[in-house]
Amino acid sequence: MRRGLAAGNWKMNGTGASLAEIEALTAAHPDPSVDILICPPATLLARMSDAVAGGPVATGGQDCHAAVSGAHTGDISAEMLLDAGASHVIVGHSERRADHHEADADVRAKAEAAMRAGLVTVICLGESLAEREAGRTLDVIGAQLAGSLPDGLTGANAVIAYEPIWAIGTGKVPTIAQIAEVHDFIRSALVERFEGEGDKMRILYGGSVKPTNAAEIFAVANVDGALVGGASLKAADFSPIIAALE
Ligand code: G3P
Repeated sequence: MRRGLAAGNWKMNGTGASLAEIEALTAAHPDPSVDILICPPATLLARMSDAVAGGPVATGGQDCHAAVSGAHTGDISAEMLLDAGASHVIVGHSERRADHHEADADVRAKAEAAMRAGLVTVICLGESLAEREAGRTLDVIGAQLAGSLPDGLTGANAVIAYEPIWAIGTGKVPTIAQIAEVHDFIRSALVERFEGEGDKMRILYGGSVKPTNAAEIFAVANVDGALVGGASLKAADFSPIIAALE
């Protein structure tokens, strides 16, 4: 009942030359049975959005400021992302939480800004290795869910991404049982808080997803797709991940 979502987070990678990858991706998936999203760096957002207009690939920002506009040098509002052609925005990525000291309340404010602008918000959660080894994973995820998610989220305006920090860019992936445990936990929490809408929200797994492990991860019941970093940069890598979800 939930349509799959293959999302790519390009992080701080890509220049104009990288748009060729999107052309190749679009050509490889002219009529996909899943949703495809690419979140390029802000410098590429408008150009990429123009390049994919009318096709199956959606674009998104990697962060937004909570305000509509104002004296916030270097920041970008959700309304500006919309204006640049985005339909989605990632908020609360662990790299933003760590590098920019974003707390749950900041993430929640950004998700509210995304809703205000009419963007779909992709809210990221995930535990550190120390938290996992201390047996605190579900406590941490539960606290992030409670603190980072605003009221009013629906299956149409929100996506949750579970990204264990220790699996990001490391080649380390949780076991299938570990992924299933956390995704089931997130689903229950979403349904408890958002009722029927919580069942409609897609929950993505992120962290070292590759063409070689995607199918196994996508077979997990509450995994509705992936948020992919490194393997989303090249069409040759991202295309088989999309195919595994179809
Ligand atoms: O947001 C996606 C990301 O954090 C996962 O990165 O490179 O491990 O796929 P990667």
